[in-house]
Amino acid sequence: MDDLSRRNVLRVGGTLGALGALSALAAPASAQPWHWSPAGSVPGTGSGADPRQTWDTQADPLVASLLDRGDVPKVNELLRTWKKNGQPLPAGLPSDLREFMEQARQLPSWTDQNKLAAAVRFNEKRGLYLGVLYGFASGMMSTVIPKEALAVYYSKGGANMKNRISKTAKLGYDIGSRNAFQADGEMIVTSVKTRLVHAAVRHLLPQSPHWTHMAPEDVPISQHDMMVTWHSLPTTAMRNLNAWNVKVPTDESDGFLHSWQLSAHLLGIEDQYIPATWNDAESQATQVLDPILAPTPEGIKLADILLDLGAGLDFTLLTRPILGALTRFMLGNEIANWLNIPREPVWSTLLETAWGPFVKVREGLLPVPLAPHAYWTFDELLRQFVLLYMSELRPISIEIPEFNNPN
Ligand code: HEM
Repeated sequence: MDDLSRRNVLRVGGTLGALGALSALAAPASAQPWHWSPAGSVPGTGSGADPRQTWDTQADPLVASLLDRGDVPKVNELLRTWKKNGQPLPAGLPSDLREFMEQARQLPSWTDQNKLAAAVRFNEKRGLYLGVLYGFASGMMSTVIPKEALAVYYSKGGANMKNRISKTAKLGYDIGSRNAFQADGEMIVTSVKTRLVHAAVRHLLPQSPHWTHMAPEDVPISQHDMMVTWHSLPTTAMRNLNAWNVKVPTDESDGFLHSWQLSAHLLGIEDQYIPATWNDAESQATQVLDPILAPTPEGIKLADILLDLGAGLDFTLLTRPILGALTRFMLGNEIANWLNIPREPVWSTLLETAWGPFVKVREGLLPVPLAPHAYWTFDELLRQFVLLYMSELRPISIEIPEFNNPN
């Protein structure tokens, strides 16, 4: 654990943070009945079964069997060559895996190519904001989703966060690319591989003494957990864009939602839990996401690592104080305080006063930058995020883990 004993983390986290974490774990959301109706889902119907008691019925037993049979190294090696959505699966895969993947890679019948075309327009216009939103609103939020923070910290990827962030950034990159779901795109491949990774984590983490000691559940990454994380991505991005008064045409915001509905499906989330509209997404997020956010010692440590993402690199604006101020600005004071991120006098003030006008200028609503220096600084900040993803966080192959974080 990086020389960092649990006791130290608790001390770093501060008593309040630790108490918050413990109470969050002691009173899991499952204490309340599940009442989000499948009427608000993409198919508009479903069993309504509690998603906290449902995982991935198809992928989980299959990947557990691959791990038990010792097939994973061979499978990872073969899948390294499988990159494009339209590419045939590599020869030599175990037949049960091949059969599953052939079906799992199919887009659902409700795929709407017009909406995907609108998503491309959305990504082209708002891509610059999305870099910072996925990276710092969603990425930092994941550290205050207690069950996700625990799973990430104690799984294999927790031992090398930079590497893990690159793989997660790949998903954000792939979903925003022009051809995301087309034959020459990569989002279907990335989602199906991630589905396999999650199934492996469900088999492996229960074998980690660290995780079992801390986790409030027997098996991680339920359908409910996946929707929580899903909301930390598109719903949180859209909430921020709305807060910044970015006016997104309805067809484009619907297109953006659609691309994430498809991703949810490909990640193995049952259609009955995927919200049909932004209103449905909001109603679900207020039930599943907002109430469960809380600090944990593990999440505080992960956030600390994320704040150093730009350290040692050539990005003058991706410094710890600026990234901290961005987190505070996008996720609010409560979450920043949980994560022990100090208020940064210069940058917090600048963001609070100049970000609104900056967005207006970028959106063509103000003709001349009111504060030219702040304008160019923010523009450069967005650009450096995109560059960070494209250069430093070069996508690496997403592979099925075979073990947990050994530390
Ligand atoms: C792996 C995305 C939900 C925990 C991954 C990877 C991606 C990803 C792209 C592959 C990167 C890698 O191998 O490191 C997503 C998305 C989700 C979601 C888009 C929901 C929409 C969750 C949830 C949890 C979780 C709910 C835990 C509660 C993990 C863990 C790994 C992983 C532990 C494996 C890291 C390792 O190799 O050790 N996820 N995830 N994910 N995810 Fe998720």
